[in-house]
Amino acid sequence: MLIEAAGLCAGYGDARVLHGVDLSVGEGEIVALLGRNGMGKTTTVKALMGLLPAMAGRIHMGGTDVTALPAHRRARLGLGLVPEGRRVFPTLTVEENLRATAVPGGRWSLPDVYALFPRLAERRSNFGNQLSGGEQQMLAIGRALLTDPRVLILDEATEGLAPVIRREIWATLARLKDEGQAILLADSRLQAILALADRAVILTKGEIAWTGATAALQADAELQRRHLAV
Ligand SMILES: Nc1ncnc2c1ncn2[C@@H]1O[C@H](COP(=O)(O)OP(=O)(O)O)[C@@H](O)[C@H]1O
Ligand SMILES: [Mg+2]
Repeated sequence: MLIEAAGLCAGYGDARVLHGVDLSVGEGEIVALLGRNGMGKTTTVKALMGLLPAMAGRIHMGGTDVTALPAHRRARLGLGLVPEGRRVFPTLTVEENLRATAVPGGRWSLPDVYALFPRLAERRSNFGNQLSGGEQQMLAIGRALLTDPRVLILDEATEGLAPVIRREIWATLARLKDEGQAILLADSRLQAILALADRAVILTKGEIAWTGATAALQADAELQRRHLAV
């Protein structure tokens, strides 16, 4: 597995939010981390990235136990994050935003990112705070790719975006999947995930309520109603 969490517990201050989450993403896989708002998706993402400490449990990347490693070390081992709310640098241009995260020798170059998102090429001299929400998300994805991630993690990839931009983002992720990119998608909505993800993990109140093949989730309307915003 490229990344594997076992019995992961994490939270804020004394408050535990995750109570033993098991989750893995393998080579070339797209895994969906689903659940209604407030169920612990972002907390899981932060704990995987090393942005929150694990209170219990282990996280492995390949054969390496990364549970005690800080975020920048895990990033270097191959975790790329597109965070909830995007967080592009507002006072840097598109090109400066991209250059800020690029690692030498990675699979992605700036021209590759501009080819993936032609709109970013047109906007390369604009500042982060001059971009639309969709352009910011393209920039956030481009930045994450330039860190050469073995696993790309997107937290609410299309939240707050217009339908046409949403479709464009999902289509781009489908292209990345075709190229073998492993992806973890944290999302509260099911619909777009169904076509994309191989497996799904559903969180309820920081615990795994269900896990299985996306096709099984697709076929189970009652399961969807119980746990998801459809
Ligand atoms: N910074 C924080 N401090 C304290 N509690 C938080 C913080 N962020 C999230 N929480 C709580 O943790 C729980 C899970 O939140 P979160 O992981 O953001 O859920 P999701 O991403 O599934 O919407 C919620 O009850 C939320 O209120
Ligand atoms: Mg969230």
